[in-house]
Amino acid sequence: MYEKFFSAAKFTRSAPKTSFLPADCGYEVAFLGRSNAGKSSAINALTRQNSLARTSKTPGRTAALNIFEFDDERRLVDVPGFGFAKVSLVVKESWRKLINEYLLHRSCLQGVVVVMDIRHPCNDTEMSLLTWLHKAELNTHVILTKADKLGKSAKQQALKKVQLELAVWPNITLSLFSSKNKEGLDNLRAKLLGWYKVESSGEDTL
Ligand code: GTP
Ligand code: MG
Repeated sequence: MYEKFFSAAKFTRSAPKTSFLPADCGYEVAFLGRSNAGKSSAINALTRQNSLARTSKTPGRTAALNIFEFDDERRLVDVPGFGFAKVSLVVKESWRKLINEYLLHRSCLQGVVVVMDIRHPCNDTEMSLLTWLHKAELNTHVILTKADKLGKSAKQQALKKVQLELAVWPNITLSLFSSKNKEGLDNLRAKLLGWYKVESSGEDTL
């Protein structure tokens, strides 16, 4: 789906502070979630570029807002993972500030993809993030990553459990995802195309 649009993504810059971000115009979508949840891997799967966003087995490697662009108006932001215990309190506090400032003041932000590991979803931090996003009336889509790590019935059980947890926020959508076998890729792409206001016709030309 929209292969050309998504695979045209290019890394543009890394922003250690919000003042380093590109001009606040156009359409931006941010990927947020706990460290090691699979944000950068999801971005690589989405764009079919294996090394576009840096992935790591060591949690907490993405420490700045990494910006990728699809075209002059449409961007994607890989936000540093939160909740990783091994980084110092000072670093944690500066990440929290960065994420807060970004979410509060970025007018071009069209939506947020919250990335949760299907095996450990909905911890307190994730639930407070979702509460915050709901209150801020930001479009939110949750993906349960690493779905390939569970068998069919365990996967459906996990999905049902999260559906129940999120039932209080009917506007928040949810889907399974795997960067490894690309489960849920078209669903995620469809969500982003809506937020990016990309025409749903003329797919072959994009
Ligand atoms: P930070 O940048 O630290 O916040 O982490 P992140 O959320 O960007 O996670 P990243 O994409 O770097 O993935 C962390 C680890 O999980 C890597 O070893 C990935 O290969 C692995 N991983 C991510 N997504 C999947 C998936 O869908 N399936 C499987 N099997 N492994 C995955
Ligand atoms: Mg990352």
